[in-house]
Amino acid sequence: MLDVSELVQPENGLIHPSIYTDPEIYQAELEQVFARSWLFLAHDSQLPKPGSFVQAYMAEDPVLVVRQRDGSVKAFLNQCRHRGMRICRSDEGVARAFTCTYHGWAYNLAGELVNVPMQERAYHNEIDKSNWGPRRVPRVHNHKGFYFGTWDEDAPSFEEYLGDMVWKLDAMADRYDEGISLVPGATKWVIDCNWKFAAEQFASDMYHVPSSHTSALVALVEDPQILAELHELNLTVPGRQFSGNGHGAGFALRPDILPSQSGPEFDAWLDAHREEIYRRGGEQRALAANGHNTVFPNFSWLDINNTMRVWHPRGPGQIEVWAWTFVPQGAPEEVRNEIRTSTIRSFSPAGVFETDDGENWTEIQQVLRGHMARKSLFNAQMGLGHEKQGTDGMPGRVTDDMYTEMAARGMYQRWADLMSGLSWQQIAELDRNRQQQEVHTA
Ligand code: FES
Ligand SMILES: [Fe+2]
Repeated sequence: MLDVSELVQPENGLIHPSIYTDPEIYQAELEQVFARSWLFLAHDSQLPKPGSFVQAYMAEDPVLVVRQRDGSVKAFLNQCRHRGMRICRSDEGVARAFTCTYHGWAYNLAGELVNVPMQERAYHNEIDKSNWGPRRVPRVHNHKGFYFGTWDEDAPSFEEYLGDMVWKLDAMADRYDEGISLVPGATKWVIDCNWKFAAEQFASDMYHVPSSHTSALVALVEDPQILAELHELNLTVPGRQFSGNGHGAGFALRPDILPSQSGPEFDAWLDAHREEIYRRGGEQRALAANGHNTVFPNFSWLDINNTMRVWHPRGPGQIEVWAWTFVPQGAPEEVRNEIRTSTIRSFSPAGVFETDDGENWTEIQQVLRGHMARKSLFNAQMGLGHEKQGTDGMPGRVTDDMYTEMAARGMYQRWADLMSGLSWQQIAELDRNRQQQEVHTA
C-alpha cells in the first residue's frame, strides 16, 4: 500500500510531483480512484432510440453504453469474452446486436452472449453462453439526462456522491425547460499530460486566466483600451469557489448578466429566456453558471463556453480528451450554430483558450522528466485557512473569492482518501470530522 501522506498534504497545501509521473501510482489510481468513482458515460441526446449506442471509457476500460428496448440504458465492458477483442468498433450508431469481428461471437443489446459460430461442431454444444457475457457496469444512474456509471457496488448513491455539487451540475444540466442536447459527435484528441492537471484546473483554477489567456485575448481583441478594461475586470470581478466531495467549481459573479461568450444570437436568446432560467433554479444559480467545474475525478465543463469533456487517463503522462458542445435543446438552428462555432474557436484542439491550457500542462509534464524536478514540492496553499461555509446562502463549502485553491485541496483530499484504500464509510466519517473541525476553528 502506498503511503499517500507522503504524496499530498491537502491540509498544508502540499503536493509531491510524483503523483503526476509515477507508473505505480497511476496503476493504483485506476484501481482505487477510477474503479470506485462515478464516471460520466453518456447524455440522453446521444441515445435517441432503442439500439442506439455510444462508446465511452471508464478510465482505460472501454465500455459500450446502449439504449435498451424498454428505454433504460445499460453499459458493459466493450470486451469480447472469447479473446478480448472489442465487441463493437464503431464510435456510435444504432444496432440490433453486436458481433465481434475476430471470430464472430454475438451479443444482444443487454450484453448477453447470444450466438457462438459453429457452436455444435467446434464447442460440441458444451458452452454455457449465459456465463460468457461481457462484464456489466453494475450501477448506471441517470441524472437529468446525464448517465454516470460505477463499477463499485459499495459506492454511495450518485446523489450522495455528488453532494452539494448538484447545484452547479444542475446550473448546466437543468437550465432550460426543454433541456440541453449535445451537438452530434465528440471531438477527441491527446494531450501529453497527467489527467489531474486538467481535472484540477477545471475544479479550482480561475487564477491562471489573467496570465495564461492574455495571448488569446490579444489575438481576439484588437482595441488596446478594451483589452486593458478586460484585464482590469479579471482582476477585480467578484467571484466564488465551491468545493465538496472532491468536486470543485469557480465562477465570476457579475450581477444581472446572464453570461455567454458565444455571440449576439445566443445573448438575445438567453435574454428572452431569462425568466424561465431564473424560475428553474433561482437567479443566483443562473448567474453562477459562469465558470469552471469538475465532478471528481474527470468530468469537467465550462458554463459560458458550452463545452463539457472527460479527461480519460492514458498512463501517467497522457490523456485522451473527449469533448462535446452542449446547446439548449429548444434553441433555433442559428443559435445552436453560433454556439457550436464559438466553442470550436475557443475550446477545441485548435481553440484559442484550449491551446493555452494544453501548453501549460504539457510543459509541466516535460519538466517533470527531471529527477530533481520530481523532488520539489508544489504549492497549493492559496486561500488556505480562509475557507468559508455557505457564502451568500449558496449550498456547501463556498469561499468568498474565486481566486483560491480550496477546491484543488478538496480534490486531492478525496484522491488521497481513495488511494489510501479507505472504505466509503470511512471517507464519509473523515469528511464529517474535518468539517466539524473547520467550524470550530472558524
Ligand atoms: S475474440 Fe471475439 S469472437 Fe474471438
Ligand atoms: Fe484556461
